[in-house]
Amino acid sequence: MSEGERVVPMRLQRFLARAGVASRRGSEKLMTAGRVCVNGEVVTQLGSKVDPACDVVTVDGREVQLAEHATYLILNKPSGYLTTMSDPYGRPCVASLVPTQTYPGLFPVGRLDADTTGILLFTTNGDASQQMLHPSKHVSKHYVATVEGTPTERELDLLRKGIVLDDGPTQPAEVEIMDAARGRERTTTLGITIQEGRKHQVKRMCEAIGHKVVRLHRDSFGPLRLTDCAEGTWRLLTSDEVAKVEALVSS
Ligand code: URA
Repeated sequence: MSEGERVVPMRLQRFLARAGVASRRGSEKLMTAGRVCVNGEVVTQLGSKVDPACDVVTVDGREVQLAEHATYLILNKPSGYLTTMSDPYGRPCVASLVPTQTYPGLFPVGRLDADTTGILLFTTNGDASQQMLHPSKHVSKHYVATVEGTPTERELDLLRKGIVLDDGPTQPAEVEIMDAARGRERTTTLGITIQEGRKHQVKRMCEAIGHKVVRLHRDSFGPLRLTDCAEGTWRLLTSDEVAKVEALVSS
């Protein structure tokens, strides 16, 4: 918990998410499956409250406590890693690049495609994760997308206004040309800021205007930047960054 944060009775699913057991939705599933007890009683009622100061919460018989402090770190994700903590087929995943032994319960906030590089936030705070991904928080993400060919301003305006994809229209995006078409490949580098996080969204947006993405890198996530974090490495958030994330989450 951050300094000054009050520990008051809270919904059980929120408690479980805050403790890093699962997302809030996942915690609800654990509850309805009868796997969660409070003071020895199975609790399946989703509105139930718990007082972290005095109630004993267990999941599958194991006691769960709120950590003194949530952990937040960023990874500068290299290409070729799945955004998952394990893979049944043994493919490389981001879990191998972050200190899961030192910080049990870490998981990624949202996801990047395997071939996308850049900033990926991890936390042990399921509640913060859920909030940061919630559309009402309007968390901006800035992507550097290298696309085939030379998009015209008219095409880019379609992204700026919002474009219809197969799962519905996108919200307006901020789009700028960072580097005009060059080289034998004739690619163009675009800066694209979106607040949504749909699957393959940036790739699908660019494809919808006729320009396939050949490289995608995310260099910011809300208030967080990749400063001091080389590709393939991670770092803990500074106290300033943690304060910004927690302010965003609690706003
Ligand atoms: N949009 C994409 O298409 N892929 C990502 O990894 C992130 C955003």
